[in-house]
Order: sequence, then structure tokens, then C-alpha cells
Amino acid sequence: MKTILVTGGAGFIGSNFIRYVFEKSGFKGRIVNLDKLTYAGNQENLSDVAREYEGRYVFVKGDICDYALLGRLFKKHRFDAVAHFAAESHVDRSIFGPKDFVETNIHGTFALLEAARRAWPGRRDVRFHHVSTDEVYGSLGRTGKFKETTPYAPRSPYSASKASSDHLAMAYHHTYGLPVTISNCSNNYGPYHFPEKLIPLVVLNALEGKPLPVYGDGNQVRDWLYVEDHCAAIWLVMRRGRPGGTYNVGGGSEKRNIDVVKGVCAALEELLPSAENPALKGRGYADLITFVKDRPGHDRRYAIDFGKLRRELGWKPSVSFAEGLRRTVAWYLANPEWVRSVKTGEYRKWLQKNYRR
Ligand code: NAD
Ligand code: DAU
Repeated sequence: MKTILVTGGAGFIGSNFIRYVFEKSGFKGRIVNLDKLTYAGNQENLSDVAREYEGRYVFVKGDICDYALLGRLFKKHRFDAVAHFAAESHVDRSIFGPKDFVETNIHGTFALLEAARRAWPGRRDVRFHHVSTDEVYGSLGRTGKFKETTPYAPRSPYSASKASSDHLAMAYHHTYGLPVTISNCSNNYGPYHFPEKLIPLVVLNALEGKPLPVYGDGNQVRDWLYVEDHCAAIWLVMRRGRPGGTYNVGGGSEKRNIDVVKGVCAALEELLPSAENPALKGRGYADLITFVKDRPGHDRRYAIDFGKLRRELGWKPSVSFAEGLRRTVAWYLANPEWVRSVKTGEYRKWLQKNYRR
């Protein structure tokens, strides 16, 4: 691979992926990052990369739904790989307003597939990697894990839009021979995670002495994966995965939400004790835990069987949940400028309008 188009590279996982590829994979080529910079996109996520890899890193502000732009970019840069991250990614927002999810996740993926098909007729030496989610499989009971063969049963507008995009991507492989791979991953966490998602929201609320909202009874289970492990899996699948293959990626780390929130509080107590944080006014971080109204249609349990990825490509997670959480909390404590920039941008406006908890 010489030139990779990364979409949504200014978001949480995309920015970690670009940093991973430049710093840890041995890649010698160029990356073009196409991102619309929605509320969730932040160029500051990559300011270090832009400095360090000037000439090999190119940022383009634009929409993946823009066919004409995609055509021009494919022509100009002659990409030989696409890593497609761009999406509306937050389940709660998809419940408040599903339209953007249909636009970006379905129409945007379709536009990108079309651009790739037109630019790469008959080529086998290229790769279109579609980054997807375990949520396409729906919700599990007490036992069992999602396998690549589990039937799709999405239950939120977000997961339905991702499921549609997965089907389109695979249809382009079967119909047109486009060398597509898909990865379906569980919940990520780590640096640059946008603070509308559970872990960063809890870290930042706790630091300010605000309530830590736990939906429903807090017994929903998610399977957590440190973001860099996800990036390593994507890179592996892009290079060595079978065209037409889908690969589940997970942390082997199932946790109840309430335990995740308590884990964040414990990590904070270790790194910045509440007794030394004036915002806490004598309370412990865990005293801020507040049970709130449940998310409509809240999926109960996710768990991933990543045996195929382990057997075929030798991948497994390398960071334990305890270690990853500690690193993540430490990163938020060490990066108050990033936190400020994220909270004073579009996100704050959205919070003021919609945040009811
Ligand atoms: P994110 O919301 O942090 O970032 C999304 C990025 O896409 C932002 O930079 C945004 O500006 C950009 N974007 C949105 N619409 C766009 C458009 N129309 N054109 C161009 N850019 C656009 O999301 P994330 O958490 O980094 O997720 C990235 C991908 O990984 C998504 O496809 C998501 O479905 C998938 N995924 C996420 C997780 C997770 O736990 N976060 C787990 C599995 C899969
Ligand atoms: O499983 C992969 C998915 O993980 C990705 O596809 C999505 O893009 C990503 O956002 C994430 O979805 P979740 O809905 O699982 O993540 P979120 O951080 O929003 O919520 C995690 C769990 O915590 C979920 O069960 C809802 C609950 N929750 C969330 C928030 C924001 C709370 O209890 N309180 C909260 O305030």
C-alpha cells in the first residue's frame, strides 16, 4: 500500500489509526484523511501527526457523500487502499435524530464504494476496508457470543445504518469483485474518545463533580477493547485479510456498565484522589453515580468471539481492561487543553440544546 484514503480520520478511532499506522506499522507511504469535521471531528486529534509527517499526511475537509469530490480525490491521489471510518457513531444521537445516520452511514458508504469501483475496475491489488460494529448483530441473552455467522439483527437507527452499509460493502465485493474486507468491533475506549460516550463522559463529569449517569439498572454488558488494539486489528485485516472476509474484533473483556463506571472512579481515586479535588467538596467520585432513565431499546449484552481473527491472522488484544482504563484516565488528566477545545466547540452547543440528564 502506497497511498491510503482514511475517511473520518479526525474522529476517535480514525485518528488513533492514522497515528498507529505512521508510528507503529512500518508504513512508508501517504495517508489522505477525508473528514467533514462534524461535532465529533477534531483536527487537534492529529496536530502531532500533521507536524511530524508533513508531506506524508494530507488533510481534506469534505463529505463522503460528495461524489464529485471523491472522484477528484481518487484521480489525484491514486489510492490503493481505503480505510473507511467516517460515520455518525453515537447510538443516543441516532435516537434523537436518525437522518444524519442514514445520510452518512448509508449514502456516504455507497458513494465511497461507487468511487472505488469506478477508480479500480478489475483491480485485485487494492483494498476497501469497511470499519463496522458488533451492534449489527443485535442483543445477546446471558450466554453466547457474536460470531461472523450470527444473523444481523440491528435494533437502533445507528446499528441499522451500519448493518445497511455492511451489506452494501459486501454486495460490491460479490457483484463487482471489489476487494472488500469488513471488521465488526466491540466498544472501544482510549485517548481522544469524544465525551458523549460512557467512559470519557464519566471521567470528565467526575473531575467536575457532576453526576455520573448510568442508564437503567446499569447491568447492561459491553465488551471493551483498548483503541490501539482495534487499530492493530484493522491494519492486519487490511493487509492480510481475505477479500470478501468479515472479521469480528473484541476485547474478551465483558463488563457491566455499573462496573465500568466504578472502575473509572477507582482509577481517578488512584491518579487524582477526590480528597485533593476541590470540585468534589468532600465527596468520593463514586458518590456521584446517578441512575437515570434507560436508553430506549437499550441492547442488553454484547460479547464477541474473535476466534477467526486469532486463528487466521494471529491477532489478540494486548492491553487488559484495568491497564487500558488507567492509561485512558491518565491521558484525560494530562490533556486538559484537548478537553477544553472539545467542550467549547460544537459539542457544547449540542449539550446545551439536548443534554437532559
Ligand atoms: P467518531 O464519531 O469519533 O468519529 C467519526 C468521524 O467521522 C468524525 O471525525 C466526523 O467528523 C467524521 N464524519 C462524520 N460524517 C462524515 C461525513 N459525512 N463525511 C466525512 N467525515 C464524516 O467515531 P468513532 O468512534 O471514531 O468510530 C469510527 C468508526 O468505527 C465508525 O464507523 C463506527 O461505526 C465504528 N466503530 C466504532 C466503535 C466505538 O466503540 N467507537 C466500535 C466499533 C466500530
Ligand atoms: O459496540 C460498539 C459500539 O460501541 C460502537 O459501534 C458505537 O459507535 C459506540 O458509540 C459504542 O456504542 P455504545 O452505545 O455501546 O456506547 P456508549 O458509550 O454510548 O454506551 C456504552 C454503554 O453505557 C451503553 O450500554 C449505554 C451506557 N451509557 C452510556 C452513556 C453515554 C450509560 O449508562 N450512561 C451514559 O451516559
